[in-house]
Amino acid sequence: MKLQTQYSLRFLNTLAIDSIAECFVDANNISDVEESLQYAKQHNLTVKVLGGGSNVVMADQVSGLVLKYSADKCVVLAETDTSVRIKVDAGFNWHDFVLYTLEKGWYGLENLSYIPGLVGASPVQNIGAYGVEVKDFIVSVNGVYLNSSQSFSLNAKQCEFEYRESCFKQALNGQTLITSVEFELSKLANVKIGYAPLNNMAEEKGVPTPRQLSEWVIEVRKSKLPDPTELPNAGSFFKNPVISLAQFEKFKIKYPNVPNYPQEQLVKLPAGWLIDQLGLKGKAFGPVSVHKNQALVLINNGGTGADVVVAAAEIKRLVKEKYKIELEQEPRLFS
Ligand code: FAD
Ligand code: EPU
Repeated sequence: MKLQTQYSLRFLNTLAIDSIAECFVDANNISDVEESLQYAKQHNLTVKVLGGGSNVVMADQVSGLVLKYSADKCVVLAETDTSVRIKVDAGFNWHDFVLYTLEKGWYGLENLSYIPGLVGASPVQNIGAYGVEVKDFIVSVNGVYLNSSQSFSLNAKQCEFEYRESCFKQALNGQTLITSVEFELSKLANVKIGYAPLNNMAEEKGVPTPRQLSEWVIEVRKSKLPDPTELPNAGSFFKNPVISLAQFEKFKIKYPNVPNYPQEQLVKLPAGWLIDQLGLKGKAFGPVSVHKNQALVLINNGGTGADVVVAAAEIKRLVKEKYKIELEQEPRLFS
């Protein structure tokens, strides 16, 4: 285990916040993890788990021990003619993993192409895009409890997955290091092209293969979302709010053009549209601005985590004032 102190996290978070960790360990294997947890216990340090840093807002100083897990193997656990069950280490880069599955002829994850971050974080907020959520392919999530170093394995039901939610953000928030995720993927292609931009492309070009669909998703994402290496950001800064059908009926009278996604008795509204309609696209709040093409994305132009928090609070306030809807922040605070 190589422990570093006063370690810069500047290049380990996609908002490019200049943040310093009191202690930092990049653990390559389980024994590094065990040693790190023991060290933290001996020195009374809180352990904070970092993946690819694409969904966190860093404070200037992060106290305790920041632990990153970098093991990145994928092994086959079981296989039939039509499906495969695999166990993937948490440190595998998510998009590289999606491409790897497509090369192998294992399907299902193509709509989740090009999402930044690591496999270990994928269950934390049940990553989703273009009509697919990762929960539908997860068999179990394995890891260790940070306090006791005891290992755990939770099946998909126990993970309590919801839209951008899981037990890892709720009851077990900050208490676990996920070390591997088991997925079940299909060997039969079953492309999901219900999402409007993908459907339009299919009408023009025909039904895609899973690999083609992955390329389409990458193309759409590149056209909509800014590249964090050019414009530091954390993807969608707020979750899309979900309101009751009754609330929606009233809302629609005032805003008949609002795009909406009905769910059972509930309706999801696009937070990007709400912010956009306030005329905030491109607007700067100090060093943090609303992206000029996608109002749900905040760009950090050299600000601190506190600047990001202040900008987000102001946007939340404006949305609440206008629509009486409370936005919930998606990226986690890391302090
Ligand atoms: P981090 O940001 O490092 O961590 C996020 C949270 O998970 C933290 O609370 C951290 O403590 C915890 N965590 C991370 N790894 C572990 C682990 N091994 N064990 C326990 N806890 C852990 N998300 C989507 O769902 N859909 C999208 O389409 C999407 N698009 C994005 C586009 C851009 C340009 C960006 C910047 C982000 C986007 N995101 C999207 C958000 C982000 O990519 C995902 O949430 C991703 O899963 C975060 O992974 P990470 O490894 O970077 O996690
Ligand atoms: N819209 C506007 N103005 C904007 C942005 C969006 O009017 O500035 C409208 C769009 O025209 C569209 C609707 O809002 O009618 C939805 O927009 P979009 O399809 O771009 O998706 P989103 O709701 O902004 C969500 C996810 C993304 C995911 C995409 C694709 C959340 C919080 N965000 O974004 O996830 O990639 O759908 O499925 O659910 C992330 O979580 O970081 C992320 C990028």
